Amino acid sequence: MRIRLIVGSLVAAVVCGSGAFAFNNNVFAPKSVKEVMKVAHKDGLLKKVLGGSASEEEKKQLLDLYIDMVEGEPKKGDKTEWHMAAGAAAVSAAKVVLGREGAVDELKKTSDCMACHSKFK
Ligand code: HEC
Repeated sequence: MRIRLIVGSLVAAVVCGSGAFAFNNNVFAPKSVKEVMKVAHKDGLLKKVLGGSASEEEKKQLLDLYIDMVEGEPKKGDKTEWHMAAGAAAVSAAKVVLGREGAVDELKKTSDCMACHSKFK
């Protein structure tokens, strides 16, 4: 009886543990530049942040995505220039999270679609 209880809770712990892992994996796995474009830009997250209606969580989500963008591979272009362009957007997103003055205006400039696409897409 006692043993079954222990085995039962062990199984439960393993199942819950792997469940939590799967969840973490899903949320925090690095995203490709393509995926970042979809979630941050196509689905409107950046727009929300620039418009001032994003929650603290959403601002952090944008920063999280932009970190993956910096570490990701552009379709074309020079890697060092990519790090500077994508890095500038990530720094702006971090400033927005911190609530620094002028951060949203800076993000508007560093997230310019065409400027970046003409070099790296
Ligand atoms: C810092 C650079 C950068 C900025 C800023 C940027 N993009 Fe991109 N974007 C890219 C790169 C690089 C690709 C190509 C990704 C690939 O195909 O691997 C891309 C691809 C895309 C795609 C195609 C994704 C797909 O599924 O093939 C869309 C849509 C897109 N961007 C939307 C936007 C919009 C909208 C903005 C402005 C709000 C924007 N991007 C700003 C770098 C950028």
